[in-house]
Amino acid sequence: MPAPNIDTIVSLAKRRGFVFPSSEIYGGLGSAWDYGPLGVELSNNIKQSWWRWLVYDRDDIEGLDSSIILNRLVWKYSGHETTFHDPLVDCRECKTRLRADKIEGKCTNCGSTNLTEPRNFNMMFRTILGAAAEEDDPAALAYLRPETAQGIFINFLNVQTAMRRKIPFGIAQIGKSFRNEITPGNFILRTREFEQMEMEYFVKPDAEHLKLVDEWVEQYLEWFKSLGISSENLHLHEVPAEELAHYSKRTVDIMYRYFPERAEEERQWEELMGIAYRTDFDLRSHSSKPADEEGKRLNSDSTEDLSYFDEATKQRFYPHVIEPAAGVNRTLLAVLMDAYSEKTNDKGEMRVILKLSPQLAPIKAAILPLAKNKPEIVGMAKAIKRSLQPVLRAVYDDTGGIGKLYARQDEIGTPMCVTVDHQSLEDEAVTVRDRDTWEQERVKVAELADYLQRRLKATAPAQPVAATTSLEI
Ligand code: GAP
Repeated sequence: MPAPNIDTIVSLAKRRGFVFPSSEIYGGLGSAWDYGPLGVELSNNIKQSWWRWLVYDRDDIEGLDSSIILNRLVWKYSGHETTFHDPLVDCRECKTRLRADKIEGKCTNCGSTNLTEPRNFNMMFRTILGAAAEEDDPAALAYLRPETAQGIFINFLNVQTAMRRKIPFGIAQIGKSFRNEITPGNFILRTREFEQMEMEYFVKPDAEHLKLVDEWVEQYLEWFKSLGISSENLHLHEVPAEELAHYSKRTVDIMYRYFPERAEEERQWEELMGIAYRTDFDLRSHSSKPADEEGKRLNSDSTEDLSYFDEATKQRFYPHVIEPAAGVNRTLLAVLMDAYSEKTNDKGEMRVILKLSPQLAPIKAAILPLAKNKPEIVGMAKAIKRSLQPVLRAVYDDTGGIGKLYARQDEIGTPMCVTVDHQSLEDEAVTVRDRDTWEQERVKVAELADYLQRRLKATAPAQPVAATTSLEI
């Protein structure tokens, strides 16, 4: 049973230290959120899982970490300066600013149809570089990147030559992106600052691009399932031609059921990620060589030709690109919603259990002393915590009675609780309690690390096999 709505997760996330509203002591900042002690662990675990799956388990993908602020010309030639905008309207009655394509001609705040004509609003955040520059100096204008992808395209040749790569191969990057969204909202689903996990997969111009999109869709569905997301809450959306981004010939979105409480099935879904066939648009438009019919260079600023020479066929071409682009924040929200469950204990009290997959759980084992006023028990529990730490993320907690401590760990998704009691001092054994079944087992301290690791592995959803492509690598 997933969370009934996003609000349930907002409240759990704040109460238990996953996500806090940002700048709250100054009244907040619409759509900005801070990741607390458990949120940062969960987010890091998602990013690590992604990196391991793409960069380590496969042999055809390299990693990259490019700058957030790039030369403005990148955004000129990527097309973002002229096309990266949303249609904006104002409600003349209540003065609310709205995205015209999301409201069907009616103000979502007051219901009025008295709206201004739509006008384009560029979503890139602007900034000025240099202490001496004037606010309106076009030479000093720069943007915060609205996608991590461009940092990959402009480094295509660097990576390819430094790592002596042959096509097909990919470049993966995780990092913050920024968009001045007109209507941010729904918690961390749509924010102005967010994190992306993007991969550009470079292939030959005559590859079966549309089929490759399907292959990557299948691989990502497997990856999301390995994070514990149920396939019932995932579905595919083929983006209609008229809604495709300026660079895309085909995009398939993987949607997640973020709004299960909505009556109409089609309004329950929102994009979790997109897989696009970007053609050779970006590499070609960042290159110095391509010219128009009169021989005039299309890019008069670039100093490089980002084409690729295929030794086997002795042909030079601009590689085509398949791009799976996912959001860290949307993945984290989907993971939290899907892991949420409720269970009634034998006293008839409702308990929340976050059934996070063990690889994502912020804490793998909590070490709890049964009596916190007994120094020998506390000492033993702390020593066990320290001995486990190099092997798995463990915490020590004595801030309540054992029932409360168990309930708190269940609510943050800790798969195992280890209790040290009076008996432990004599038999060198502890009680291990399972988050999902609440079953308990007595385990020797000397065997504890191995036992926990084995159990964590056994309860994890299947890992996706090292993904492959139908192309020869
Ligand atoms: N390079 C292609 C690209 O950026 P996109 O569909 O605009 O494609 C990819 O973004 C993913 O980034 C989305 O599927 C979503 O997960 C995440 N994303 C985009 N805008 C977002 C926002 N305002 N807040 C949170 N996540 C966002």
